[in-house]
Order: sequence, then C-alpha cells, then structure tokens
Amino acid sequence: MTDTADTDGNLDKALAAAAAVAEVRDGMLVGLGTGSTATHAIRALGERVAGGLGIRAVATSRASDAMARRSGIAMLDFADVPRVDLTIDGADEIDPRLFAVKGAGGAMLREKVVAAASDRMLVIADASKRVAAIGAARVPVEILPFAHASLMAALGDQAMLRMRDAEPYVTDNGNWIADCRFGLDDPAKTAAWLDSIPGVLGHGLFLREVDAAYIADAGVVSRLERAASSR
Ligand code: A5P
Repeated sequence: MTDTADTDGNLDKALAAAAAVAEVRDGMLVGLGTGSTATHAIRALGERVAGGLGIRAVATSRASDAMARRSGIAMLDFADVPRVDLTIDGADEIDPRLFAVKGAGGAMLREKVVAAASDRMLVIADASKRVAAIGAARVPVEILPFAHASLMAALGDQAMLRMRDAEPYVTDNGNWIADCRFGLDDPAKTAAWLDSIPGVLGHGLFLREVDAAYIADAGVVSRLERAASSR
C-alpha cells in the first residue's frame, strides 16, 4: 500500500466536494449537509470564504453548523430562511435515477426539509455509494419516541432501533431512529407508505430532491444531472 492509497474514499470524497463547491457563487444562501463527505464540502467552502467569497449558509445538523462556524462561514437559523439557493450533501446510496438513501448520520429529516427548500440540491459521494438501484442500505426512519412500540411493529420485523451507548439514539430533533430493511422494487410506493404513517416524522428515501450528483471514482469526478423533464 502506498501513502496515497485512498482506502476510505477520503480523497474521492474531497474531490466530489470540491466539484460541488465550485458551483457556489457570491451572494448565495447555501445548505450544508451532514456526514463525512459533507464535512469536506464545508471545509472547501470555508476556504473559499477565507478567499473572499460572500455567502451565508444554513446547516442540516448541529454538528455541521458548529463546523461551518469554525470554518468562518456566516450561519443563519434555517427557521428564519424561506428559500435556499444550493444545498450540498452526502448520501449512503445514489443511483442513476438520482434516487438516494440518506441518514446513516441521523440527520435525514433536516436534510430533507433543507433540500426541499433548495433551488438546487447536489449529492457528493465517492464511488462506494454508487449503486445500480437503491435498496441494499437500511433506510433510516425518524420516529416519535412516544409511539415507538407501535411504530416499530408497523415498520416490520427487520426494523432495528438505532442505539448509542445502550440507549436509543436521539436525533437533533429529539426523536429516535428505526433502521429499516425494505424491498425497494417500488421506492415511491415505500416512501408514500412511510409518509402516511402517523408518528413517522421523516425517512431517508430521497426520490425527488436530488438535482445532480458529483461522484468521484479513483480521482475522476463525474456529474449526473437530473433530466429537466423529471424535475
Ligand atoms: C447524514 O444523516 C447522512 O444523510 C449522510 O449525508 C450520509 O449518511 C452520508 O454520510 P457520509 O458522507 O459520512 O458517508
């Protein structure tokens, strides 16, 4: 193994992030994603801000907000923001339809509301996230703790309550997460079913939100763009 081996995709994550950050223009309001790949984008954006780029941003998690502030980015509270120009975020799986599974980092509810409020949403990823069709990764589902027993039953016997230090993992919104395994032959049907369950507050199926993906594979970045007709 050489010093330059990219065993965990870090170089590719950074390259994909840099390609997406190149879309940011002066004056934009930028949505910042969550996770290890989004961290590269926040760092790269901070460097551009240090170089004179004038932007403001909102974050999809407390962790990303803190990192962005440390990077010198002017942060706003999303609660006060009606629209976002461009959001950059990672994914656990991304396929050629630009269907994504997100939420391994537990931020998918805030990620989805920020993406939905964005004029353009970019996924950044190394090649390990590229799949022919989403469905291998567990789909995180944010659930109301008050109803956890009935919701876990509704989500099926493959659903696992996410734990941390022997306690349920608590999201930034104060909720819990069920990591679910679904056959995703019809992702839209699964998403509609999840959306219909009272007490399910969000989930990691992103079927309409992603406008483009920058995917880096062994140092080469490619961009997948959603066809205008399917927006
Ligand atoms: C955070 O909740 C997630 O949606 C992440 O964006 C996703 O899990 C990708 O994370 P990594 O970039 O760390 O793989």
